Amino acid sequence: MKPGRLLKGSRVPETITITDDRTGKTVTVPINDGTFSSAALRELDKNLFIYDPAFLSTAACRSSITYLDGDAGILRYRGYPIEQLAEHSTYLEVAYLLLYGELPDEGQLKQWTYDVTHHTFIHENMRKRFVDGFHYDAHPMGMFVSALAALGTFYPESKDIFDPDSRHKQILRLIAKTPTLAAMCYRFSVGLPFFLPDNELSYPANFLTMMWKVGEYEVHPTIERAMDVLFILHADHEQNCGTTAMRVVGSSQADPYSAAASAASALYGPLHGGANEAVVRMLTDIGSFDNVDAFIEDVKSGKGKLMGFGHRVYKNYDPRARIVKQTADAVFEVTGKNPLLDIALKLEEVALSDPYFVDRKLYPNVDFYSGLIYQALGFPVDMFTVLFAIPRTVGWLAHWDEMLNDSDQKISRPRQWYTGAGERDYVKLGDR
Ligand code: SDX
Repeated sequence: MKPGRLLKGSRVPETITITDDRTGKTVTVPINDGTFSSAALRELDKNLFIYDPAFLSTAACRSSITYLDGDAGILRYRGYPIEQLAEHSTYLEVAYLLLYGELPDEGQLKQWTYDVTHHTFIHENMRKRFVDGFHYDAHPMGMFVSALAALGTFYPESKDIFDPDSRHKQILRLIAKTPTLAAMCYRFSVGLPFFLPDNELSYPANFLTMMWKVGEYEVHPTIERAMDVLFILHADHEQNCGTTAMRVVGSSQADPYSAAASAASALYGPLHGGANEAVVRMLTDIGSFDNVDAFIEDVKSGKGKLMGFGHRVYKNYDPRARIVKQTADAVFEVTGKNPLLDIALKLEEVALSDPYFVDRKLYPNVDFYSGLIYQALGFPVDMFTVLFAIPRTVGWLAHWDEMLNDSDQKISRPRQWYTGAGERDYVKLGDR
């Protein structure tokens, strides 16, 4: 939300006056940073509700974690521009920043890194009995979602969500174990034995090693850095669908593992985190540079979407997409260029000059190019959303923690606009 108008150096909240023409009653409500409380409507009429399906104009909570300006294409974590964090920071440092609000000093970062590193193992029963129970061709994201909820059953104390020490421990466990879970899902899906975490490696290097190590394996520094940057870019994005699910489920005081499983389920959808997988399938189906124009015409005639384009908030280029594109160049230096890149670049060029997309302010989002990198790194397409979920876990947890500390927060329970039948009497079967 844009800050309120500044008058004489101090922020004076503006107001909005609402009149109920049925009764002539009016109510004047303060506007704070572009929002006003809907509670004022109850002063006019206790049965008056705002109809806002999919929350296009609803601020569902207060948050100080991530700031987006969709028109300007701005993304900041705790005030730090994503461009600077992607250039100078690491995922673990960003995870600390998102959770605790400040960049860690040297001692804090050392302790945080030690703590996360020493929680990467998964209980053997989880490894041997739970993961092995899946069908041989189970989608890794379906496995990942289930594994998040199952993980919570190993930590019954996680239900004590108001114990700060327990909360901190579960946050550590989820951040530390999601790469291990993800690698396990992959290794299971290709019939490879699991490779246990190596506490000598960095967060991204440990994940890449658990994924790929068969015999000798050395993480290439460019690939390690690219993975870390992609984790930074995907770590949080204010009230996206998955984080909203985390807040809604968390508001019932469910444990963080169950809430994270709901968030991951939302992320799995092709309109959300599943888009990176859908983009690569779309590019593969287009198949050649020469088919781009015909595909764009199909989209404009309503035969499907240009996946990886468009965003509920960004009506400008997603700042993350720009950084992903730069990261892709560095990765392709090592892996060789992904042949689908030329089709993606042509799609972007055509779409950014076509009124259908320009008028609807549809630009590339974070998912448009990320899949090309994942594919070049050897990840199968059905692992792409899992790669989104690993770093987004800290975003879900930061919002969950913030929600539990918010005095405004209650159990999420929206109202509805009832359009169904009025009262009527039961009709016996023979009389229908
Ligand atoms: C993520 O919220 C977040 O922050 C999410 C995320 C995060 O970090 O958590 O940023 C990650 O989910 C990115 C988005 C990934 N999804 C996709 O790339 C899927 C394709 N994009 C769309 O489905 C769509 O753009 C959404 C879902 C992302 C946003 O949809 P909205 O805001 O509900 O907009 P809309 O569907 O109402 O679209 C407005 C118009 C419609 O046309 P008209 O009815 O006005 O004629 O734009 C059209 C839509 O048909 N449109 C598209 C389009 N996206 C919107 N047309 C073609 N291709 C597209 N991709």
